[in-house]
Amino acid sequence: MSTADPHADIERILITAAQIQQRVAELGAQISHDYQAHSDPLFVGVLKGCTMFLVELAVHVNIHIAIDFIAISSYGQSTESSGVVRLLKDLDTDIAGRHILIIEDIIDSGLTLAYLRSQLERRNPASLRICTLLNKPERRQADVPVDYIGFDIPNEFVVGYGLDYAERYRNLPYIGVLKPEVYTRPAH
Ligand code: IMP
Ligand code: MG
Repeated sequence: MSTADPHADIERILITAAQIQQRVAELGAQISHDYQAHSDPLFVGVLKGCTMFLVELAVHVNIHIAIDFIAISSYGQSTESSGVVRLLKDLDTDIAGRHILIIEDIIDSGLTLAYLRSQLERRNPASLRICTLLNKPERRQADVPVDYIGFDIPNEFVVGYGLDYAERYRNLPYIGVLKPEVYTRPAH
C-alpha cells in the first residue's frame, strides 16, 4: 500500500541534503567567478527536474543573472530514455548574443541535452554551457560537453531534490534510490 510519507519509499540515500547544499554552494561560487566578465548570463532551467537545484544555485551566485525555463519531454512514466525528445515549452527570451547556462537535474543518456543544445545553438547565443547536478557517465549515448557537474553517480535510477518517478519524490531534500516494490505497485 502507498503511504503518505515519501521518505518511507526510499531504500537508500545516495547524496545527503548537507552534501547537496555544500556542493551547490561550491558550484555557485565557481560560476560567479567564471562569469564575472560576461554580462547577465541567462540561466536556462530545464523543467521540471531543475527546480530545486536552480533556486539553490541561483542564490549562491553573486553576479547579475537572468532566469528562464524550457520544458522538454523525456521519460514520461518510465525510467528509460526513449531517445525521442519533444519541446513542450520554449524560452520567453531571445538568446542571440546572450551567455547561456543550461541548468539540468541529471544527464543520463545525454540524448535530451544533445537535442536541446543543438536547438539553442541555432539561435546564436554568445556562449552555451551546461551545468548539471547529477551525471551518470556510464550511460552516455550522445557526446555532450558538460561544464559543471555536481556529482557523478552510478547507473541507478534516483529521485529527490527535483528528480521524480511518475511525478513523485521531487520534494525530498536528498537524492535517494527507491525501494524495488515502488516500481511494481499499481499507479497512484
Ligand atoms: P537523458 O536524455 O537520458 O540524458 O535523460 C535526461 C532526463 O531524464 C533528465 O533530465 C531527467 O528528467 C530524466 N532522468 C534521467 N535519469 C533519471 C533518474 O535517475 N531519475 C529521475 N529522472 C531521470
Ligand atoms: Mg523526469
